[in-house]
Amino acid sequence: MSSQLETSISNSQLLDSVIESGMGRVFIETYGCQMNEYDSGVVRGLLNQENFTTALNPEDSDVIFLNTCAIRENAHAKIYTKLQSLGYLKKKNPNLVIGILGCMAQNLGDDLFNQDLPVDLVVGPDNYREIPNLIRSIRLGGHTSPLQLTRLSRTETYDDIEPQVINGIQAFVTIMRGCDNFCTFCVVPYTRGRERSRPVSSIVDEVKMLVDKGIKQVTLLGQNVNSYKMNEDDFASLIEALLNQTTIEKIRFSSPHPKDFPMHLIDLMSKEDRFASNIHLPLQAGSSKVLEDMNRSYTKEEYLNLVDRIRDRIPNVGITTDIIVGFPGETDEEFEETLDVVRKVRYDMAYMFKYSEREGTIAQKKLPDNVPEDLKSERLIRLVDLQTEISHELNTAKIGKEYEILVENASRKSKLDLSGRTSCGRMAVFPVPYGDYTDWIGSTVKVRITQATSATLKGIYLEGQPIEPRS
Ligand code: 5AD
Ligand code: SF4
Repeated sequence: MSSQLETSISNSQLLDSVIESGMGRVFIETYGCQMNEYDSGVVRGLLNQENFTTALNPEDSDVIFLNTCAIRENAHAKIYTKLQSLGYLKKKNPNLVIGILGCMAQNLGDDLFNQDLPVDLVVGPDNYREIPNLIRSIRLGGHTSPLQLTRLSRTETYDDIEPQVINGIQAFVTIMRGCDNFCTFCVVPYTRGRERSRPVSSIVDEVKMLVDKGIKQVTLLGQNVNSYKMNEDDFASLIEALLNQTTIEKIRFSSPHPKDFPMHLIDLMSKEDRFASNIHLPLQAGSSKVLEDMNRSYTKEEYLNLVDRIRDRIPNVGITTDIIVGFPGETDEEFEETLDVVRKVRYDMAYMFKYSEREGTIAQKKLPDNVPEDLKSERLIRLVDLQTEISHELNTAKIGKEYEILVENASRKSKLDLSGRTSCGRMAVFPVPYGDYTDWIGSTVKVRITQATSATLKGIYLEGQPIEPRS
């Protein structure tokens, strides 16, 4: 009894000293989508409130989080390898806390716990508020297995947390979380839970705060942004509120669902320059039969009609997509229909995937993964080849044209070049006209396109740009 008491006294003294000296340094490695980037910012924000500081690398940290993704192929294997590679840090610093966050945390099987990996903490996307308490509890000791908290919530939106996700002049803002669509291939409804939206006023306040910090462009995030619903407000009225009540220069969003794309949203995009004319419209498959098996709730024809309506109202719109090949039961003819849609729509860019079965999904339970791996690969290669050709043609057709570009950064390859996107979402790179690249970040300039590859536009700065660069 007395030794237990002594242990708890020494633990609480240890805890006090940790609190006094600050809670330590935290390093977060983020995998997967932009929502995870945002969530890592939320966790950083939460931990900063508790006196944690941000570490720049795992070696200098007291807490390491891997914010994981469960959608991509080999996601689990990648995280296991990463954890094994972090084992040596744990040996050097036994007080180091290592945690798994994100979608994989939510759908991890017991296998993680049976593999003797250096994990102390497993926290799902709706439980991040508990992280400081969980870290405290781990530091107090006495746990023989990782602490796990993966309760899904119907209400958690982290509405009051100021996320730390500013990247130059661009920031992400989550407007809704979760998904109610249950596409049969997808784990998101199980890892992220039910749809819930943030109030318009709090999103407006967050964007105002970002504008005050120099942010020029926000990307609104959600598993299904256009399902945004808060009392009487829908996604279009949220955009209107942001346009009317803030001075943000550019609004982008990711990702919408084709089933929910009303005319008034398309009209708003067509008439508002500040609302970027760029739509990521996941197709997933071109055959109505496969779409039905995927539970996508639109047919090939409905999808093509929607694209026609969008192109009709917004002639310069950029359209990108996600496509899966080799979904269970997909025949050669059905795959040809996917190619047919790609030829008809002529996407600016596409993310293309081989179907891979995900634990707990409807497809895993009901639809055998019966397209052979080599056939999936063959289909993916054909699709990628077609899309690369189309992207190249569309980009080449832009040579000689002029675009307004919001300069986001130096190009990844050279600080002598600037990079930014056209309103329709294409990345353009052009030489710094004069001065240093930092002088130009956040300026909107006019650029004439001179060269194109399938991925990038290259251009030159034109004098008489619409907005002077910052001094
Ligand atoms: N297999 C392959 N691709 C998938 N995606 C989601 N789940 C799967 C899966 N089980 C793709 C979809 C989605 C994108 C984010 O990832 O195309 O839109
Ligand atoms: Fe997944 Fe479908 Fe929801 Fe997108 S809409 S997150 S693919 S279930």
